[in-house]
Amino acid sequence: MRPAEFLTKLRHRSPFQVASAALRFARGYVVSCLSFERRALVSVRGRLRIMRRDGTISVGDMTDLWPGVKLSCRGSGGVDRARIRIGRNCSIGDRTEIHAGRLVDIGHGAIIAWDCVIMDRDYHSTDNGPELVRPVTIGNGVWIGCRAMVLKGVTIGEGAVVAAGAVVTKDVAPFTLVAGNPARAVKRVAGWRKGRPSLTISRKT
Ligand SMILES: CC(C)(COP(=O)(O)OP(=O)(O)OC[C@H]1O[C@@H](n2cnc3c(N)ncnc32)[C@H](O)[C@@H]1OP(=O)(O)O)[C@@H](O)C(=O)NCCC(=O)NCCS
Repeated sequence: MRPAEFLTKLRHRSPFQVASAALRFARGYVVSCLSFERRALVSVRGRLRIMRRDGTISVGDMTDLWPGVKLSCRGSGGVDRARIRIGRNCSIGDRTEIHAGRLVDIGHGAIIAWDCVIMDRDYHSTDNGPELVRPVTIGNGVWIGCRAMVLKGVTIGEGAVVAAGAVVTKDVAPFTLVAGNPARAVKRVAGWRKGRPSLTISRKT
C-alpha cells in the first residue's frame, strides 16, 4: 500500500483510529530517524527492541512493526557489518525476533506472524570453532506463519508460505508451502499479497 492509498483508507476510520495510526507512524518516523539507515513511514506499535552494533537496519515505508518485535543487528567490526533489510509494506508480528550477524533481507509485502524467529547465525558453534553466519533472504510476498523459525543460510522464494511452527533449515522454492520440523514442501501455492481480502470458512469432510 502506498502512503496515498493509506490516507484514502483512513477516511473511513473513526477519529480514534486515525489518531492512533498517526501516533504509530509518528513514532515509527522518529525511530527510523534515530535507529534506521534512512527515514521511513513505518508504523511502530508498542515496544520495539533494537540491539545494534556494527550494523545497519533499514525498514521500508508502510511496514508495520507489532509490539515486542526485536531487531538484533550485530556485526563483528571492520568490514563484517551486519544488516537487517525489511522492504516496503511488510508486517512483522508481535514478539518476532530477527537476528543478523551479516544479512537478513526481507522483500516487499512479506508478512511474518507473531513469535517467529529469523536468524542468520547460531551465536555458538557445535564444534567450538568460529560461529557460522550465513545470510538469510526472504522474497517478496512471503507469508511466514506464527511460531515458525528460519535458520541461517536459508533463501525463501517469492510468494512462498511457511506454515505455523515450521523450522526452515533449507531453501524454499517460490510459491511453495512448507511445513513441519524440518520444513518440507507440501504443495504449490498461488502466492499471497498483503491487502488481499476475504475469509473463507470451509468444513473439511
Ligand atoms: C500455511 C497454512 C495457511 C496452509 O493452510 P492450507 O493451504 O489450508 O493447507 P492445508 O490445511 O490444506 O494443509 C496442507 C498439508 O499441510 C499440512 N500442514 C498444514 N499446516 C501445517 C503445519 N503448521 N505444520 C505441519 N503440517 C501442516 C496439513 O496437515 C496437510 O497435510 P496433508 O496433505 O498430509 O493432509 C496453514 O497451514 C497455517 O500454518 N496456518 C496458520 C497461519 C498463521 O500462522 N497465521 C498467523 C497470522 S499471519
